[in-house]
Amino acid sequence: MNKVQAAILASRSYPTFRQRLSVHDCRLCGLHAGRTNLVVDRGNPAARLLLIGEGPGADEDRLGQAFVGRSGRLLDQMLLETGIDPARDVLIANVVKCRPPENRRPTREEAGACLPYLHRQIALVRPKILGLLGATAAEHVLSHDPGRKMSKIVGNCVEVESLPGMVVMPLFHPAYVLRNPRKRGEMLDHLMGIMARL
Ligand code: URA
Ligand code: SF4
Repeated sequence: MNKVQAAILASRSYPTFRQRLSVHDCRLCGLHAGRTNLVVDRGNPAARLLLIGEGPGADEDRLGQAFVGRSGRLLDQMLLETGIDPARDVLIANVVKCRPPENRRPTREEAGACLPYLHRQIALVRPKILGLLGATAAEHVLSHDPGRKMSKIVGNCVEVESLPGMVVMPLFHPAYVLRNPRKRGEMLDHLMGIMARL
């Protein structure tokens, strides 16, 4: 951890955090080597819902915004269908801020190196609801057994000791719904559950 990283983590407002991190040449893990843009988020930091994905893909890396490719378009559609405005009602971020090569899952080391940024993000946004999109986000935010099946935990609210006062809900990753269109209805039900609590 160098002085710049310490300053980013010490940011006292989200816009300051966002600005500092987005221009930072972070090299805390090997993912820095393949990055075009460090992707902090997309959406409204004042929203009561914070969604966490895995990591930027090719479109996100190119544009510097989270969930702006195929998965992101499906996510936005499903949010809109539930009555959640993606630009106003949500902030979307990722476990790792730099694109893993060939969109592979980030390793434990890579996620571990990047997690302090995510934790600061969560602390500054203080969402009412934290939605974990897919197994990577569930694994690193809940620090649960990586072998645990997503199908057992999706759509259920979980208590997280380190996140008091926050409703935390594992959700399907939109890329999974893209590959398994029959899961769309279930995902919409989960999003309805979130909408009801917002
Ligand atoms: N998938 C993710 O997990 N995050 C993104 O930002 C885009 C696709
Ligand atoms: Fe730094 Fe995170 Fe990018 Fe790794 S993924 S270089 S820890 S910002």
